[in-house]
Amino acid sequence: MTAPAVQSARFAELSARSFHDIVRLRLATFVVEQRCAYPELDGRDILPTTQHLWIEDGGEVVSYLRFYPGAENATWIGRVVTATAQRNRGLGALLMTHALAAAARPVRISAQARLQSWYQAFGFTRCGDDFLEDGIAHTPMVLEG
Ligand SMILES: CC(C)(COP(=O)(O)OP(=O)(O)OC[C@H]1O[C@@H](n2cnc3c(N)ncnc32)[C@H](O)[C@@H]1OP(=O)(O)O)[C@@H](O)C(=O)NCCC(=O)NCCS
Repeated sequence: MTAPAVQSARFAELSARSFHDIVRLRLATFVVEQRCAYPELDGRDILPTTQHLWIEDGGEVVSYLRFYPGAENATWIGRVVTATAQRNRGLGALLMTHALAAAARPVRISAQARLQSWYQAFGFTRCGDDFLEDGIAHTPMVLEG
């Protein structure tokens, strides 16, 4: 089976339709599924240094992440998400692999604590104590090499 195509764009290159579909997936997951009211549109999406990666299936955005240079002189990966019906097919791992091939080191994430072992599989290690963000336990993790 051929691997699904990974699409990549900065905000200025994104069509309005693609950005709409990306935000719809993020809201359906992080706000509705995880029952969390938080500032989902934090301004980072539109920065020229932010890279958006996603996979479509049947014209729908089914998996997504973004990465950008940020604090700690690191590249930050965030908003890692796959649509519920498409999980455990390797889409999230495919996007992570693409992001990690492109991202300058070190790479940092604020992982949802229950997903620590998922991120460990890509080489991330804990780099601090767990903390609560928007009521959800997070683990700070870093990939140095
Ligand atoms: C995390 C997430 C992006 C993974 O996406 P995905 O496309 O299902 O990822 P993959 O298919 O590449 O990997 C899934 C694998 O991780 C495993 N996994 C799922 N949840 C896990 C967990 N809590 N801890 C460890 N492994 C986990 C699955 O068993 C599966 O293993 P397999 O590949 O051996 O079958 C997806 O579950 C998701 O969108 N979750 C909700 C949003 C979220 O919380 N995002 C993380 C923000 S930090």
